[in-house]
Amino acid sequence: MDKNSQTPILEVKNLKQYFYPTRKFTVKAVDGISFKIMPGETYGLVGESGSGKSTTGRAIIRLYDPTDGQIIFEGEDITGKMSKKALKTLRTKMAMIFQDPMACLNPRKKVIDIIAQGLDIHHDYKDEKEREEKVYKILEMVGLSKEHANRFPHQFSGGQRQRIGIARALIMNPDLIIADEAISALDVSIQAQVVNLMKKMQKETGAAYLF
Ligand SMILES: Nc1ncnc2c1ncn2[C@@H]1O[C@H](COP(=O)(O)OP(=O)(O)OP(=O)(O)O)[C@@H](O)[C@H]1O
Ligand SMILES: [Mg+2]
Repeated sequence: MDKNSQTPILEVKNLKQYFYPTRKFTVKAVDGISFKIMPGETYGLVGESGSGKSTTGRAIIRLYDPTDGQIIFEGEDITGKMSKKALKTLRTKMAMIFQDPMACLNPRKKVIDIIAQGLDIHHDYKDEKEREEKVYKILEMVGLSKEHANRFPHQFSGGQRQRIGIARALIMNPDLIIADEAISALDVSIQAQVVNLMKKMQKETGAAYLF
């Protein structure tokens, strides 16, 4: 084993994420969680409803400014203030599949543009045709088809929207995928398909998963 493989891809140290809905009231959504994930590892975070699982994922991908503690990703402390550019870069190496896909898919954007978002940031294609081909390929991998590319999120079922979110996360080949109950909203038959897809992608890309 080389030295690199001994370094965790993600280290969360005593992370706290508080919310202040009113001046007198504090919600301690996450109150001192610590764990490590090694490259390529699948890590499961369990807890009852409301225990802070989603908040932990959202804090790690820096949708929030953590209240306290440390998040170290690929050896780099990403806890403090981040520039827009740094955040964009972070979100190509780390992707999140959200529990509630409707809340995170821009209703005014076509599926092709939602999925290609990461590609667009990095101009990860030589022309429009290649961009399209990449999106079609990933759509097929998640069990949708290229006919779906020019539709809008509201024209899909919940399970299909979940797969759009998965496609968007996978297209960048991220090193870490945070999957927040990514499959619980799907039909059982599609659950197996999506789990197999994630396993296959993990084998191919060596990505780590936080469930
Ligand atoms: N933006 C916010 N403002 C205030 N409170 C919040 C916010 N986000 C989450 N909370 C609260 O933080 C706690 C943890 O929520 P979170 O969604 O992380 O739980 P969870 O473990 O993902 O639950 P579930 O299994 O139901 O998805 C809950 O009590 C929730 O009401
Ligand atoms: Mg949750």
